[in-house]
Amino acid sequence: MHLKVRKRKGEVVRKRLLDLGVLDKSRRILKDEDFLFIPVLEEIDIPDAEIVWMNGKGIKRKPFSLRESLKGKLTENELKIAPKSFDILGDIAVLEIPEELKDKKGIIGNSLLKTFKNIKVVAAKKTAVGTEFRTREVEIIAGEQRTETVHREYNCLYKLDVSSTYFSPRLGTERMRIAKQVRDNERVLVMFAGVGPYAILISKKSNARVYAIELNPKAFEYMKENIRMNKVDVVAINGDVRDKVPKLGKFNRIVMPLPKDAGDFLDVALPALEKNGVVHFYDFSHNVDESIEKLRGICGDLGYKIQILDAVKCGSYSPGIFRICVDFRVI
Ligand SMILES: C[S@@+](CC[C@H](N)C(=O)[O-])C[C@H]1O[C@@H](n2cnc3c(N)ncnc32)[C@H](O)[C@@H]1O
Repeated sequence: MHLKVRKRKGEVVRKRLLDLGVLDKSRRILKDEDFLFIPVLEEIDIPDAEIVWMNGKGIKRKPFSLRESLKGKLTENELKIAPKSFDILGDIAVLEIPEELKDKKGIIGNSLLKTFKNIKVVAAKKTAVGTEFRTREVEIIAGEQRTETVHREYNCLYKLDVSSTYFSPRLGTERMRIAKQVRDNERVLVMFAGVGPYAILISKKSNARVYAIELNPKAFEYMKENIRMNKVDVVAINGDVRDKVPKLGKFNRIVMPLPKDAGDFLDVALPALEKNGVVHFYDFSHNVDESIEKLRGICGDLGYKIQILDAVKCGSYSPGIFRICVDFRVI
């Protein structure tokens, strides 16, 4: 069923049909020399237009979400628990498949590959982030058999391995928030540096002297490669911050991106801080006040009085628990 209307009136009528909810969006608008034939869902009386019956043409629309692409491939109940979201690191999609859908992982992985052409590998999380390297095991469920990729963020490139190094694409905005605060000629220390995203971005955006310490030898090797690839000047150090920091002198700014345990390393960080120096302290908690209280407590026990400069929620960790960053200086 189509509504035949003169071309010059077409747009007004289309909008009217849309407002009335009777425009059939699954079919194309057809035309001849003088008229448009607008597909409609029901007979409707519109001035200067008449209902005609003709063969319509469907609109083929690509599915735009993983769940939508799975329609017809999974049952209604399976669809309800299918993954809604996934992370993209370079050309690798990383997602969590619920236990009940484990035997459907091939269908889910291949559906992702077909829907999103920029994805070449689909990896399912096998374990939670654990170990002191903050890595997790993954299983390749579709696409090329590899776990290495190059991720682009704010014009920087990060080579990484999704199974043997930590990297979260969700922290890009937070890394930029920190990088924007760095002033030229500062000495900056990035503890827990991973494959180098904080250190490299800071170095790219300023002429600060940046030091980056990482414990995981594999992440450290990637960091060195990323420093070369991004043509920045960062001093990369492999080892435990507890051993390395006391040998490096004082810093104007210290970044502590280890939310689970950063509090255990404040005794190492604070003696390395220049007068008026700033610390970016990461924590997992319910809200910024909880993190500030915890921070004040630890610093107080260590004999330091602090001034809070800012405190932000910069991601979520689990239901009700957030990644918080508190920026502070010692007074
Ligand atoms: C949460 S990840 C953050 C990585 C990186 N900053 C990022 O944002 O992608 C924490 C990193 O700290 C490293 N790490 C843990 N304990 C450490 C220590 N005592 N000394 C140095 N690095 C450590 C881990 O190997 C891991 O790569």
